[in-house]
Amino acid sequence: MKNKVLITGASGFVGSFLVEEALQKGWEVYAGIRKSSNKQFLQHPQIHFFELNFSSATLLTEQFTAFKKEQGSFDYVIHNAGITQADKKEDFFTVNCNYTKNLLHALKDADMQIKKFVFISSLAAYGPGNAETFAPIELGHQQLPISAYGKSKLNAEEFIRLVDIFPFLIINPTAVYGPRDKDFLQFVKLINKGFEPYIGSHKQMVSMIYVKDLTKAVIGLAASSAVNVSYIVSDGVDYKKESIGENIKQILKKRTLSIKIPLLLMQILVAFTEKLHLFFLNKLPFLSTDKLNEISSANWLCDSTALWKDLHTTPGYSLKEGLQETIQWYIENKWL
Ligand SMILES: NC(=O)c1ccc[n+]([C@@H]2O[C@H](COP(=O)([O-])OP(=O)(O)OC[C@H]3O[C@@H](n4cnc5c(N)ncnc54)[C@H](OP(=O)(O)O)[C@@H]3O)[C@@H](O)[C@H]2O)c1
Repeated sequence: MKNKVLITGASGFVGSFLVEEALQKGWEVYAGIRKSSNKQFLQHPQIHFFELNFSSATLLTEQFTAFKKEQGSFDYVIHNAGITQADKKEDFFTVNCNYTKNLLHALKDADMQIKKFVFISSLAAYGPGNAETFAPIELGHQQLPISAYGKSKLNAEEFIRLVDIFPFLIINPTAVYGPRDKDFLQFVKLINKGFEPYIGSHKQMVSMIYVKDLTKAVIGLAASSAVNVSYIVSDGVDYKKESIGENIKQILKKRTLSIKIPLLLMQILVAFTEKLHLFFLNKLPFLSTDKLNEISSANWLCDSTALWKDLHTTPGYSLKEGLQETIQWYIENKWL
């Protein structure tokens, strides 16, 4: 019998790659989407679609009960749906935390026999590491998120651990890049135009993970014997913030004007824009003070040793290889 997996947020960047990786493993894949979701990256004929509305636990329960009657339980649920941008801080808690609670309650009430519930959290749920020692963020460190996004992910993690409804895994990926990602594309586009902007001139260290390495790890961990633990996911390399730009420049064969915007100036500008947005539009701007604090933090290094050790493998892509594939995809698909 094939493993049956429900992958939520399947229409998104990470979700669409999770679907592909699960299909490659020979699993029966149910792509959790919304009515409004774009299925552009979900074209494989073997994908089953499952329209879900996480705002109502009752409706979800009815859907899962009906599904179980006809098809049986899911073996795995990978809850990847989430938001990294929001109009209001409360939205982070509604979507990333309350909807996770609704999903778990509904699966339980429908008496689904789930072997593992995998929650895609974020390194943001830990908060940045020490800015003086540059020691990496590690499992077991106190989780001190600095943004509403990070706090909402931590709240969901705490709920999953506390209720202990199903065997679970919590995945904390660092910044993910790869084809189909529109956020990273913005930086690549600027470099392509000859600009290389950085926030602040302070030392900043980051970790990265290529989307295909992340999804291989997630599906591998779902199928492994690991339960009721967290995993930090990165490619294991420490990068200076400038080295991402350096690699992109080399691949694009571009020379750029490197601009370091003073952090204080950015903080004033963003705080001012945020006030205006909230007053006139009643929503947060794309770059909020919260987001700025997060992206300008000095230390986003992390320790993913446990992940690769438990998977008995290593990441398949170096930063250069991952960026090459990503940029090639952007060009082929006319995104660049
Ligand atoms: N990208 C990163 O660097 C990164 C790093 C760490 C963790 N993560 C986590 O990875 C997950 C996927 O992120 P991503 O980068 O792939 O984001 P994405 O491309 O924006 O995809 C988000 C997915 O979640 C779905 N979703 C959003 N709000 C929803 C709602 N209210 N109800 C149902 N579905 C909803 C979206 O559906 P629609 O298509 O219908 O909008 C989409 O399928 C998120 O949980 C994120 O926190 C991402």
